[in-house]
Amino acid sequence: MSTTFTLDTSTSRANPTPAPMKRLTIPAIRARKDAGATAEPLVMLTAYTVRMAQLLDPHCDMLLIGDSLGQVIYGLPSTLPVTLDMMCAHGAAVVRGSYHSVVVVDMPFGSYEGSPQQAFASASRVMAETGCAAIKLEGGQAMAETIAFLSARGIPVMAHVGLTPQAVNQLGGYGARGRSQAEYARILDDAKAVADAGAFAMVLEGVVDTLADGVTASVDVPVIGIGASAQCDGQVLVTEDMLGLFERTPRFVKRYGDMAGFVGDAAAAYAADVRARAFPTADQIYVAKRKSDA
Ligand code: KIV
Repeated sequence: MSTTFTLDTSTSRANPTPAPMKRLTIPAIRARKDAGATAEPLVMLTAYTVRMAQLLDPHCDMLLIGDSLGQVIYGLPSTLPVTLDMMCAHGAAVVRGSYHSVVVVDMPFGSYEGSPQQAFASASRVMAETGCAAIKLEGGQAMAETIAFLSARGIPVMAHVGLTPQAVNQLGGYGARGRSQAEYARILDDAKAVADAGAFAMVLEGVVDTLADGVTASVDVPVIGIGASAQCDGQVLVTEDMLGLFERTPRFVKRYGDMAGFVGDAAAAYAADVRARAFPTADQIYVAKRKSDA
């Protein structure tokens, strides 16, 4: 699966058009848990742009347009200022660039917590404008009613429990959760509540490993870990983190590349060529036709 695609900017379609590939479905993702622990862990990465979606899609089961795009793409201090407009624009781009993965779009802060009706209005807009298969929202027991409301109306919901970044002000930071007995029990109850409410899967973020193992064993839907445990039913990372785009690597991230180094080296080589008039060369310029060729 190493075809290189280019983007036809007039249609926003990949070129060549990839061979028709059946897209995975929500029931197929959900069913991976049916035999108890998921035999082959589910693979999920974030994607925000069409080209990244094209590159990641053949390797993933799910692509997530995370509201982490606030920090990664827009340089915002947290996910809190992210808007529905941003999620719709990037979600549509990722759907255009993918053919195989289930595409899940994050609901931004403030777009769903008010009531199940508010959540339905926001989620249905996201699904209609992007073509994604599911939405993700943060919260445990407090969101159970909303998850049931959306699921009963044709909107597949991925829940997000444990460390929930949209609640950073209430939590006081991004540290791992579940270290106290009370918090451990509350997060386990959150996970059971969202599964019982009808979430088809859940992200479990930033919790002690025993809690991650306990949640995975206690619910009958796939648990996708990030900063959790290898025993979860799948894993997700922010793609730019695992590619090494940032200086800081959080503890739960494994770096699979040095994108920052690659980009910096390429930019330095380009700058040196421009300053030395070594770029463009004859290969990169258009030569005027001679009169005799016309
Ligand atoms: O916003 C995001 O990228 C996420 C993942 C880290 C799970 O929610």
